[in-house]
Amino acid sequence: MVEDDTRGPLARTQSTDDVESEPTLRPRRLDQYAGQESVKESLRIAMTAAQARQEPLDHVLIYGPPGLGKTTLAMIMAAEMGVSIRVTAGPAIERTGDLASMLTTLQTGDILFVDEIHRLPRVVEEMLYPAMEDFALDIILGSGPQARDVRLKLNRFTLIGATTRYAMISQPLRDRFGSTYRLDFYDEEALSRIVRRSSDVLHVPVDEDGVREIARRSRGTARVANRLLRRLRDYAQVEGNGVVTGPLAQLALEQLQIDSLGLDSMDRELLRVLIERFNGGPAGLETLAAAVSEESDTIMDVYEPHLLKIGFLQRTPRGRVATRLAYDHLGLEAPRAAYPGTLPGGTSPQAPLFGVGD
Ligand SMILES: Nc1ncnc2c1ncn2[C@@H]1O[C@H](COP(=O)(O)OP(=O)(O)OP(=O)(O)O)[C@@H](O)[C@H]1O
Ligand SMILES: [Mg+2]
Repeated sequence: MVEDDTRGPLARTQSTDDVESEPTLRPRRLDQYAGQESVKESLRIAMTAAQARQEPLDHVLIYGPPGLGKTTLAMIMAAEMGVSIRVTAGPAIERTGDLASMLTTLQTGDILFVDEIHRLPRVVEEMLYPAMEDFALDIILGSGPQARDVRLKLNRFTLIGATTRYAMISQPLRDRFGSTYRLDFYDEEALSRIVRRSSDVLHVPVDEDGVREIARRSRGTARVANRLLRRLRDYAQVEGNGVVTGPLAQLALEQLQIDSLGLDSMDRELLRVLIERFNGGPAGLETLAAAVSEESDTIMDVYEPHLLKIGFLQRTPRGRVATRLAYDHLGLEAPRAAYPGTLPGGTSPQAPLFGVGD
């Protein structure tokens, strides 16, 4: 049950408590899936239409930051369509043979879910093209002058790809998905729904102030809401009477170094380094990563999207820039000299201090 605190509640690696409880916290039906209203609406229409035609669903690509519900959505689609789902991930499919053996075992309508699809090896990706387009597998039998191409027929299946890096999906692969959905950060209302549902599932009583406190500090992320809830359950049992109340949540989250906006120590460290060591930026991703001793991929996938979303960070061609909001939140004084036009009082709170128009 012990999480590695040094990496904060956002760490991508699943801790043991995550693995044990996430399957139960994972909504199984579309109507239990909070928020993402327009995505749900389009999916509902696509699924109803496919069912009416008795056809498999078109291939679907889902992208968005970690913990927003990509895997959950794929599972729900399988449940709603009443089909089997086979789960794999880009880096796990090392050879074309691995992919071929998966594809040939799929029944009509089955779903193949490929997580981190941006990490598929090139040759595997190329084998996927005719599989997605023509439900055919082109394989070469033998080698040398005797080698010959054989085309194997596949059952009509649905590929669901998920990625946190839309930009890394090649154009030919993108083009083969019938639809693409972007998941967005959740608002407080949706997060509150998630917390309420999870508290029912886990049998943790949470009062309305408690719900709101968790929702407010979940960085717009479903997974974080569930994690915070589990942490607070422990506090409520040990330090309180078992109920997660507003004051208890505040106290516990403070101890966990999660601030009023849900930023954890790594978020603050990133901003502080950017501001204090690099004068607010611009600083390159790799430089920043080295300065805070974190992988640049983790910063890009996990920390940055939320800081961008709340307007604390801006991405410019020359690097990352801290905004006035970030200075204010950390209680640091924004610099005055170099850029008179952007000085305190002169700009909107969202405006970066440096790098405008870079
Ligand atoms: N819309 C939602 N409603 C309720 N709970 C949700 C929703 N989306 C996600 N969750 C919860 O958040 C957890 C994380 O979701 P999920 O694993 O689907 O995220 P993901 O986008 O696949 O993340 P990653 O990029 O790390 O693979 C799930 O276990 C589920 O309990
Ligand atoms: Mg996932």
